[in-house]
Amino acid sequence: MKLPRPHADSAYMEFAKLYSAAKFNLATSGMMSYPLRELHFRVDDLEINGPTGYGYPPLLEAIARMKGVSPESVVTAAGTSMANHLAMAALFAPGDEVLIEEPTYELMLNALLYLGAKVRRFQRRAEDNFALDPEEVKRNLTPQTRLIVITNMHNPSSRLASQETLRIIGEMANETGARVLVDEVYLESLHHPPQPTCFHLGRQFVVTSSLTKAYGLSGLRCGWILAEPELAERIWRLNDLFASSPVHIAELLSVVAIEQIDGIAARADRVIEANRGALVSALEGHPAIDLVMPAVGTTAFPRLRNGDVHKFRRYLRENYETSVVPGSYFERPGHFRIGIAGDVEMTREGLSRLASALSNWQG
Ligand SMILES: Cc1ncc(COP(=O)(O)O)c(C=O)c1O
Repeated sequence: MKLPRPHADSAYMEFAKLYSAAKFNLATSGMMSYPLRELHFRVDDLEINGPTGYGYPPLLEAIARMKGVSPESVVTAAGTSMANHLAMAALFAPGDEVLIEEPTYELMLNALLYLGAKVRRFQRRAEDNFALDPEEVKRNLTPQTRLIVITNMHNPSSRLASQETLRIIGEMANETGARVLVDEVYLESLHHPPQPTCFHLGRQFVVTSSLTKAYGLSGLRCGWILAEPELAERIWRLNDLFASSPVHIAELLSVVAIEQIDGIAARADRVIEANRGALVSALEGHPAIDLVMPAVGTTAFPRLRNGDVHKFRRYLRENYETSVVPGSYFERPGHFRIGIAGDVEMTREGLSRLASALSNWQG
């Protein structure tokens, strides 16, 4: 079927939903599921309908407390995905110039194109381990740029940008009157100490995030946008066109989850610590790949030294029952992405199989 307009789909999502599963699944970037039975709540405290107008106040307050912002700056949305779409739709008009990192998460690029942005790119280079370089942003910023779009940590590489780097980019944005949209969904995985959101760096910053990636709570679809109150108000009004009302049971459970977030985060930390150790044991210095071990985050993004990554993915799946994401979905076809937030036993075995596959791969 021909889609009614360009960029109205995502090849990556199709891959993730239909073709990425395997017994040893290293293709997901988010924390393994947090079981509902481990959340403490009473069924009697849940309700189907509730006082949801422009946000359910207890959820706005819970997110605001967690992020250290005022509830007027919080807009809730169905995951970071919808948060990104809403924020972008509110931040530029069709034909406006938007500057976005490359490589990036495909959904962000496609959402920009779908919404009619005139897209410009700035590079995050593999040689610099995908660092966010303000000079590179500056070279590509023009007086027409309305918005700069960044992921932090970076998907696919998990590279963390410092507050200072983001502050410099915020200053540049101010000079041209642009906003800076930062998707912080992976930043949520830094709990000790919690990483401050860049929202505090100035009114030009708009931040999106959710409970999906760091906590294993994807199914709650608890996403949010942080924006200065006037903009937040406009985004709420725009949301009436897209989502109107949220799922109230999910809002109630999201409040419960945020109240218990320390325990949920501690479990996630144990998973990541164990899996990071397994990643290092399996792949550090492996001669078949170039990889700087990521210091933080839930993914790694090595380059395959020899051969075609799609062929390697098939070889890995068919012979080792293990899956990774080809880098072509992240604009870097010579790389592949490994997720390290899955079940510890499964991930350790998957990484060991991946190491064997790499050793036996003929290219
Ligand atoms: C950078 C980035 N933003 C957003 C999402 C989607 O997040 P959510 O499940 O909260 O919609 C992903 C998922 O892979 C992502 O990588």
